[in-house]
Amino acid sequence: MDKKIIKKEYDSKVKLLIKYDKFYYENSDPKVSDKEYDDLKKEILKLEKKYPDLKSDYSPSKKVGHKPSKNFKKDFHRVPMLSLANAFTENDLINFEKKINNYLSKSDSYKIFYSAEPKIDGISASLTYKNGKLEKGLSRGDGKEGEDITNNLKTISDIPHNINSKDFPEEIDIRGEVFIKNSEFKNLKEKFANPRNAASGSLRQKNPEDTKKIPLNFIAYTYGFEKGLNIKNQSDFLEKLNEWGFKTNSLNKLISGVKNLILNYNEIEKQRANLDFDIDGIVYKINDFDIQKRLGNIANAPRWAIAHKFSSSKGISEILDIDIQVGRTGALTPVAKIKPINIGGVIVSNATLHNEDEINRKDIRIGDTAVIERAGDVIPHILSVDKQKRPKNSKKFIFPKNCPSCGSETIKEFNKVTKKVDAVRRCSSEGYYCDKISIEKLKHFVSKEAFNIDGFGKKIVENFWKLKLIKYPQDIFNLDFSKIENLEGWGKLSVQNLKYSIDQKKNISLERFIYSLGIRHIGLENAKLLSKHFVSFSKFKNLSKQIDYEDMLNIDGIGETQVSSIKSFFSNKANKNVINKLENVLLIKDAVQNSDDGLLNNKTFLVTGKLNGISRAEVKSLIEENSGKTISSVSKKLNFLIIGEKPTKKKVDYAKQLKIKVIDQAEFLKMLNKST
Ligand code: IVH
Repeated sequence: MDKKIIKKEYDSKVKLLIKYDKFYYENSDPKVSDKEYDDLKKEILKLEKKYPDLKSDYSPSKKVGHKPSKNFKKDFHRVPMLSLANAFTENDLINFEKKINNYLSKSDSYKIFYSAEPKIDGISASLTYKNGKLEKGLSRGDGKEGEDITNNLKTISDIPHNINSKDFPEEIDIRGEVFIKNSEFKNLKEKFANPRNAASGSLRQKNPEDTKKIPLNFIAYTYGFEKGLNIKNQSDFLEKLNEWGFKTNSLNKLISGVKNLILNYNEIEKQRANLDFDIDGIVYKINDFDIQKRLGNIANAPRWAIAHKFSSSKGISEILDIDIQVGRTGALTPVAKIKPINIGGVIVSNATLHNEDEINRKDIRIGDTAVIERAGDVIPHILSVDKQKRPKNSKKFIFPKNCPSCGSETIKEFNKVTKKVDAVRRCSSEGYYCDKISIEKLKHFVSKEAFNIDGFGKKIVENFWKLKLIKYPQDIFNLDFSKIENLEGWGKLSVQNLKYSIDQKKNISLERFIYSLGIRHIGLENAKLLSKHFVSFSKFKNLSKQIDYEDMLNIDGIGETQVSSIKSFFSNKANKNVINKLENVLLIKDAVQNSDDGLLNNKTFLVTGKLNGISRAEVKSLIEENSGKTISSVSKKLNFLIIGEKPTKKKVDYAKQLKIKVIDQAEFLKMLNKST
C-alpha cells in the first residue's frame, strides 16, 4: 500500500484516540465504549509494529495518559470531605466574619485568627494512616464516598508510606491536594487542557506504573477522621504536618483582620503568575479548632472557612446570538453565544446574561461587541457592551413571552418576602409538561448530591431523552438495556457497568430522595430538615392534609415559601405519579434519628430574646446534639420556652397560658450540666 495512505490512516487513528481521551478526561463523557477504545488502540499498535517508522509522539505506546479505569473500588470517608463557600469581594469577607461573630455571639471587635492558605487547583485526596502506616488513599468523590486509588497515590514521592514520629496520631486521615507543576505540564500540553486535568487523568490510571510517569505532587492541609490528635489549632497542625514528613504550602500564613487578609491576598495575587502551580484563590480557616467545632457545618461546607477567589480575567468578543435556556424550576436564562475567545486559559463560547432585567438594563443586543468576564469556576458573564461598535441595523432584544420549549405563557412572580416582582421570568407550565424542565429535572435527579449515579451524567440524560428512553425519573430504573447495548458508543461492558451503577443507587436515604425530587426552594439543607421531620418515606409521601403543612411550619428553618412550594409540588398529579412509581423500585431508608440517649431527649425548645454569649444558631445545635428538638413557634408541642433579654411578650404570655415551662439561659444550661 502507498506509504502516504498508510501514514494518513495512522495519523487519523491517533487523532481520534486523542479526541476520545480529551472527552474522557475533560468532559468525563466517554464518547466510545471501552471495547471500541481498546480496539482503536490495538489497531494503532498493530500498524506501528508493521511500519516501525510511523510512530508519533502521541502513540499509545509512548503515552502515559491513556484511558483510566472507571471502576475503582468505592469506599466511604469516615468524615465527609466538604467543599467551601466562595468570597469574591472585601464585603463578602466582612459578612463572613460578621456571621461568625453572630454565631459565637461576639462583638465585631473580637479578633479572629485565620490560617490563610493558597488554594491549589488540583485534585483532593484523603490518606488514611493507622499506627503510622499508610493504609488507604481515597479520591474525594461526592464528598461522602470516594474511589480507592491507594496504589496510585503511593507512587507520589511527597506521600510518606510510614511515619515514625512519636506524636503522630494512632489513626488519622491526612487530606490535601494532588497537583502537577506548571513546568512539568509544559510537556503534556498536547494531551490535556490544563494541569488539573493532567493530574486527574494520571491519578485515575488503572496501572500505577502509568501514574508514576506523570510527576505528581502532594500538599497536605487538613484532616478527616482522627484518633489521638492533640493539636489545638490549624497553624500548629500545618507545622506538625511538616515534622511528620508532609509538604505544606510555604505561602501559608496566620492572619487576623479582614484588612490584613486583603493585603495578603493582593500580595499573593501579584506572585501568582510566577508560581509553579495553579492557584485560584486563598482559603481562610479559623485557626482555633475549638471554635471550628463550635461553628460546625451548613449543608456541605464548614461555617469556619471560606475560599477567597482571585479576580477574573476579561476578554472582548462578539455576541453571535442570544439563547434562552429553561432551567429545572422553569427559570428562563438568557445566554449569549459569543465568538469563541480564550480567557485566562479557557476557551469561552457562552456567557450568561442572568435574566430579562439585566438585558434591558445593559441594553444587550445580538451583534454587539461585549466585555466578558470569567472568574475561576464561575460561569462567564457579560460585563458591558460597546454601543459605539453596534451595527446600524441592530435591534433591541425582545425577551420571549412564551416558553421556548413548551410554548406556555411565562410569568414573573411576586415575592411576598421582598415585596418585589422577581427579576426572573419563568415557564408557567407544571413540571413534566415542559420538555426542557423535564430534562433538567432528570439531570438534577442523577446529580452528585442527589442519586449520584456513576457514569450517568448530563450528556447521557440528554442522549437517552432524545432516544425516548427516559422521560420521568422512574424510567432510569426500568431502562431497556438491550436497546442501549446496540447504540453507538455502547457495548456489553459499558451497559453492564451502567446497570450496576443504577442498581447500586436503588437503596437511598430519605434526605437524598427528597432533594432529588427537585422541589423548588428545597435544597440540600431543607431536604435534610424535612427528612428529619418525617423520618420515614411513607409519612412524607402521605403528606396531604392541611395540618401536615401547618406542622411543617414548626420546623426551624422551613418557612411559608418552602411549605407553599411543597404544597404545589404535591398537588401536581405528575409529581405524585413519579413518587409512586419510584416507591416501587427503590428502597428508601428512614432518616437516622438523633441518638435518643441525650439529656434533652423528647424535649422541644424555643428561644425568645437575646441570650448572653451564645447565639440562637448555636443553642439550636446544642439542643440537637443532646437529642432535643427546636421548633419555631409557641404551641402545645412546646416543652420549654427559653427567655433571654427583651423577650417577645406575646410568646411568653401564650406559653404561660398553655402552661409551658418558661426558663432562662442559666436554667437551660443547667439542664445540660453546663454552667456558662
Ligand atoms: S480545606 C473543609 N484547604 O478546595 C475545608 N481545601 O472547595 C475543605 N483546596 O476540595 C478543604 N487548597 O480540593 C482546604 N488549603 C486548602 C485547600 C483546599 C485547595 C481545595 C480542595 C477542596 C476545595 C474546597
